[in-house]
Amino acid sequence: MREIYLDNSATTAVRPEVAAVMQEVLCENYGNPSSLHRRGLLAERVKNEARRVLAEACGVKEKEIFFTSGGTEANNLAIKGAARRFKRRGRHLITTKIEHPSVLYTFRALEDEGFKVTYFDVDENGLVDAKAVAEAVTAETLLVSVMHVNNEVGSIMPVAEIGSLIKQKNPQTLFHVDAVQSFGKLPVQPQKWQADLMTISAHKIHGPKGSGALYRKEGLPLTPLLHGGDQEQGIRPGTENMAGIAGFAVAARLMLSQQAENYRYMGKLKEIFLTGLQERLPDMRINGDGAAHILNVTIPGIKGEVLVHALEEDGIYISTGSACHSHRADPSHVLLAMGRTPQEIEASLRISFSAAITMADVEYAVAKISEAVETLRLMTRRK
Ligand SMILES: Cc1ncc(COP(=O)(O)O)c(C=O)c1O
Repeated sequence: MREIYLDNSATTAVRPEVAAVMQEVLCENYGNPSSLHRRGLLAERVKNEARRVLAEACGVKEKEIFFTSGGTEANNLAIKGAARRFKRRGRHLITTKIEHPSVLYTFRALEDEGFKVTYFDVDENGLVDAKAVAEAVTAETLLVSVMHVNNEVGSIMPVAEIGSLIKQKNPQTLFHVDAVQSFGKLPVQPQKWQADLMTISAHKIHGPKGSGALYRKEGLPLTPLLHGGDQEQGIRPGTENMAGIAGFAVAARLMLSQQAENYRYMGKLKEIFLTGLQERLPDMRINGDGAAHILNVTIPGIKGEVLVHALEEDGIYISTGSACHSHRADPSHVLLAMGRTPQEIEASLRISFSAAITMADVEYAVAKISEAVETLRLMTRRK
């Protein structure tokens, strides 16, 4: 059966070049980079090269990149690591209501440690007001964390403006950006954004799951989450996931070599998708139209979950919201924050593209989605 995978914000297929380098690192170049002998040295070279690739991709220094077990760990390390290290500066933290759970629940955990967190509202397009965030910064504000691209609706946050305004208000306030959904698609520029910390992850860019990295501005001390050896300058101890690191770097190199073209192409896919669907389903509503690779729509009268299962029978994979939420019954916190009702949220779908999708795939998916919607609507009317 033809398979059309339109859930690339949940995860992506590993590219053959990535799998090949991982296989080589697992089976042939398998040394521990901490070993003194040649095997260790060869592994160390792989790690250094991977760090160089990621540092270049982010426009930062090699020693500012720290390998982690993914975006979740990097977000935890950035936020908890900074909050715990600098708690004497003040106990106020700021974030938005539409962050990924690995950010939101990290802030909740810090509330239990005595921190006070301001969770910012977003507008109906999923955007936070940069000036309002800056106004909320006080002498007590230790850290602000705002994502670059939202994983459910694709809204692109004004991170450069936020970074600049919060630093004007309080130069001591640290700024963290979760760039998991933008890395490899849009330029990520922690220095331009005045970000002290930034999170990226491999599996959203055709790299392996369980591999990510944190950019940490040179010299900024963080309290580690884990204690152990002196790997990653002691900030992230533990024998490195060498296959994951090597795979991440190859995936990043491949993505970045065609970043602008691929992004433009995904924008076209999205346009064709939207035009096709709007023609057939004129009552459809778009939720937060920002990044080219993510589309979130509400189709009145359907249940997103039912549609997801109906479409998988045709080999089409889409999502109801974020993958992290899909096993929970509660409605999307992102769409709720954007003012959608629980009924609208139940009728919402996320479609996320990759450059491997063809125009023909999009036309086929549009036809199948509208057919499935009509069938479901008919069935509901008959009940
Ligand atoms: C915006 C965002 N942040 C963080 C993460 C977590 O990254 P990982 O799956 O590598 O832990 C995700 C994954 O869905 C995400 O979309």
